[in-house]
Amino acid sequence: MAENIHPIHDRLVQRNEREAANGHRGGVVWMTGLSGSGKSTIAAAAERKLFERGIFAQVLDGDNVRHGLNANLGFSLEDRVENTRRVAEVAKLFVQTGCLVICSFVSPTRELRAAVQAIIGAEDFFEVYVNTPLEICERRDVKGLYAKARAGELKNFTGIDSPYEAPEHPFLDLKTAELTIDQAADILIESLPL
Ligand code: PPS
Repeated sequence: MAENIHPIHDRLVQRNEREAANGHRGGVVWMTGLSGSGKSTIAAAAERKLFERGIFAQVLDGDNVRHGLNANLGFSLEDRVENTRRVAEVAKLFVQTGCLVICSFVSPTRELRAAVQAIIGAEDFFEVYVNTPLEICERRDVKGLYAKARAGELKNFTGIDSPYEAPEHPFLDLKTAELTIDQAADILIESLPL
């Protein structure tokens, strides 16, 4: 596929120059967790706090990306792999601008997340486990999706009839049942080597 394609490697503006201009390093915060675990809410709160501190940060979120770039993808494991592969490639481009990208995706399997890490590069990849037990996510059921999945109206729903594998060694494990959104966002920001 990539035959006759010649990527430009000798850029005139280097990433380190952009990072120096921004005053912080770039990277990818990869938030993984069940639907309704709080990924998007914590990501949005962290983005706002980072913005207020003058950090160049941008959220990429499953629900949003799936309305545009990845509108042709569903929730089979194959489609989830392609969904997150594309997002990882986009995030990698953002990192070249010195941006801190906060990616909020269920990204349910270890293999899928390892593939994401391989695209982004281990030194730029900060895996955050939004660790909310299934019972709590299901009790909240903000979007009513768990009820639909239990009723058999929604197939391949993560945690119900599609697997979720928790990270074994995440960069950060946010146990959200014990934290407010604000606290979780603060812990996340403070953990980052900016
Ligand atoms: S994945 O697995 O990373 O490709 O999923 P992602 O792009 O993050 O999309 C998750 C959001 O899609 C909605 N949704 C589903 N989630 C899981 N399984 C199934 N079958 C499904 N169908 C729709 C759901 O609103 C997810 O949003 P969050 O914010 O995670 O609750």
